[in-house]
Amino acid sequence: MDHFNYRNGVLHAEDVPMSAIADAVGTPVYVYSRATLERHARVFREALGGIERKHIAFAIKANPNLAVLKVLARQGFGADIVSGGEMKRALAAGMPAKDIVFSGVGKTVTELREALEAGIGQFNIELEEEGAVLAQIAASLGKTADAVLRVNPDVDAGTHAKISTGKKENKFGVPIDEAPGIFARLSALPGLNLRGIAAHIGSQIFDLGPIEAAYSKLGDMVRDLRAAGHVIDRVDLGGGLGVPYERDKVPPSPADYGSMVERATRGWDVTLYFEPGRVIVGNAGVLLTRVIWVKPGAVRPFIIVDAAMNDLARPAMYDAWHDFEAVAPTGERMVANIAGPVCESGDTFGIGRDIDVVKAGDLAVFRTAGAYGATMASTYNSRPLVPEVMVDGDKFAVVADRVMPETLIAAERVPDFLRD
Ligand code: LLP
Repeated sequence: MDHFNYRNGVLHAEDVPMSAIADAVGTPVYVYSRATLERHARVFREALGGIERKHIAFAIKANPNLAVLKVLARQGFGADIVSGGEMKRALAAGMPAKDIVFSGVGKTVTELREALEAGIGQFNIELEEEGAVLAQIAASLGKTADAVLRVNPDVDAGTHAKISTGKKENKFGVPIDEAPGIFARLSALPGLNLRGIAAHIGSQIFDLGPIEAAYSKLGDMVRDLRAAGHVIDRVDLGGGLGVPYERDKVPPSPADYGSMVERATRGWDVTLYFEPGRVIVGNAGVLLTRVIWVKPGAVRPFIIVDAAMNDLARPAMYDAWHDFEAVAPTGERMVANIAGPVCESGDTFGIGRDIDVVKAGDLAVFRTAGAYGATMASTYNSRPLVPEVMVDGDKFAVVADRVMPETLIAAERVPDFLRD
């Protein structure tokens, strides 16, 4: 459930009409609802109510906006980070360092050192060499790094190939059959406190079966590691729960996920870590856009909107679906293609879609754009970097500026050898 609803025929974010945001900030613009973020955080936590020892680390790659992180920090969420930049954001939003989990397959030595200095609560080690380097840096700083070993359970998450991470041919984690040996070698190193294991098999998952299969492999490994004399007190279960981009395709609910986790992890006697991203922020944001032209096409008309693939990359990258709705629908429908102004045929948001009738100048939204939306934006075609707004009841504020070409050009230099 979200807080983007029609009132008197006009789409509102909480109590604010979309048209008021477009008038004040212009388009395209991402619009987030604080109430929806809080609701999703609460629902996710409540779904895990039966789990006594847990830590929820929001995967901030899904939406790293400071205001969004602030809302989630107040809900008691920590952060799952994958870069030094994300660490800076999590800390700037007031998330305690001990609540931050550092994932990612290519952490640099500098990032590892800075994270150790900041006192990050958990490193998710992706390969043996990384663990050895981390141990060495920690020891040289007189510290001990709390860590878990990410295993690749070789399970097919049944999602889009580009966001599938748990099969053996993917780059993530250590092969499950090699994990016990790697665990034994790393846990002997001074500077490292290897406390358990982690897995994350993919994103936008609609079937709990593969997730449960992966968890069951983790359960077996916890038992085997303990039998080998290791102390295991943490297991990181990753993220991955899908959201409904299309109304008639409903993913498992957080409650379904929670009951599965309870069943799959019964008796593990560890603190469970979770790294949800999309399920927290996906439906808490829309991309507000204005129709520039309705261009006749050979087969059907093209609705050319002022948002493009540089603002919302998901359709171009993963053939992803985002519902398109007029802000003030007339009740009439049309079949059309929806595209942006960027000079690529891939800059298309939908082909042959049954949508509200819109005409040039009308406002519309792409729904479910709060996750992997603004964070993946670029300035391709020298378009401004898309701004972000947060709504709170009848108030709204710009939480990220529209970064204009002038600002981007000012960061570039013409070298001496090109001056005349
Ligand atoms: N933990 C790890 C280690 C991850 O790699 C990810 C996402 C998450 C947690 C959060 O997963 P979520 O709960 O959001 O599914 N840009 C793509 C999604 C990439 C996901 C990358 N990893 C998209 O727009 O669909």
